[in-house]
Amino acid sequence: MKILVTGGLGFIGSHTVVELQEKGFEVVIIDDCSNSDEQVLNGITAITGKRPEFEKIDLKEKDKVEDFFKRHQDVAGVIHFAASKAVGESVEKPLLYYENNIGTLVYILKELCKKNKASFIFSSSCTVYGQADKMPITEDAPVKVAESPYGNTKQMGEEIIADTCKVTPGLNAIALRYFNPMGAHPSAEIGELPKGVPQNLVPFITQTGIGLRDQLAVFGDDYPTEDGTCIRDYIYVVDLAKAHVVALERLLDGKNADNYEVFNVGTGTGSSVLEAIQSFERVSGKKLNYKVVDRRPGDITTAYADTTKANEILGWKSEYTLDEAMKSAWVWEQKIRD
Ligand SMILES: NC(=O)c1ccc[n+]([C@@H]2O[C@H](COP(=O)([O-])OP(=O)(O)OC[C@H]3O[C@@H](n4cnc5c(N)ncnc54)[C@H](O)[C@@H]3O)[C@@H](O)[C@H]2O)c1
Repeated sequence: MKILVTGGLGFIGSHTVVELQEKGFEVVIIDDCSNSDEQVLNGITAITGKRPEFEKIDLKEKDKVEDFFKRHQDVAGVIHFAASKAVGESVEKPLLYYENNIGTLVYILKELCKKNKASFIFSSSCTVYGQADKMPITEDAPVKVAESPYGNTKQMGEEIIADTCKVTPGLNAIALRYFNPMGAHPSAEIGELPKGVPQNLVPFITQTGIGLRDQLAVFGDDYPTEDGTCIRDYIYVVDLAKAHVVALERLLDGKNADNYEVFNVGTGTGSSVLEAIQSFERVSGKKLNYKVVDRRPGDITTAYADTTKANEILGWKSEYTLDEAMKSAWVWEQKIRD
């Protein structure tokens, strides 16, 4: 069965392509390489022994999207990762984010609506919850006013899919709300490749550990948490990739209860910034140079998932510990700087 993975050369997309191929799916990737590299195909091939089909297309080009679906009538499902994801940049360039994250979503959904039956998985984010009132966060927690255009594209994306599913019986969709993805494939053939200054904590930690950056800034240690630093739910990227495969299978097998569903994907455990640093120091045997600085505007205090729904309905559970995931990120960092 052929599955289109948009953004399949990116961090989460490449790990998901591996899991799909290992389950026997035929994969076609669309990526414009705006935040990835064609070399990632070699990494995927080294792991799975099979080179996925790849088309370099910018999904903002509506005609090319239409043309792709004309040529690939046999695509049964789409996992849509392609998006821009830098929160700060989205504040500076809102229209770029609305065009790339909303425009491309609409073009793909339009094509799927032309089919009798289609399955669609959307990369959403725990940012939709903002600072939730209760921990752990369930899927029923209210969606809060978005803090950035990026966050808004995830909220709007979910609404666009829900509205479209309501009037399109053949379209079945799941939005996965990721918590904080991290780590690299155990083979170290693929991993996170941030262009420029990393936006996420873990690549910043590993880049500091390897000496690419002088110091890690810890934004605030006066939050109302045990050690005063912010708490997040770090989910290993291979666990996250597997969640996409089970979600897709649920739709393809027609086991979904509704034609639009939402699931949290996290570990269910919160770790503070200092705990993440300690994890790095444990697995690398290195002291990390870090400094506590002022809080960063827009950071929420605590976010970790209630994963009961994904555990019970998808039959999915995260397997890797923070240390195991951190170790994979460190092995990967050392390999790419070799
Ligand atoms: N990494 C995270 O912390 C995180 C958390 C929550 C949600 N998400 C979402 O998950 C998805 C994947 O994230 P990621 O971390 O793998 O990001 P990534 O940047 O590594 O991957 C996205 C891929 O999409 C491609 N792309 C972007 N715009 C495109 C376009 N117009 N046409 C074709 N390809 C395009 C990029 O080149 C890149 O390879 C995104 O939608 C992101 O918003 C990520």
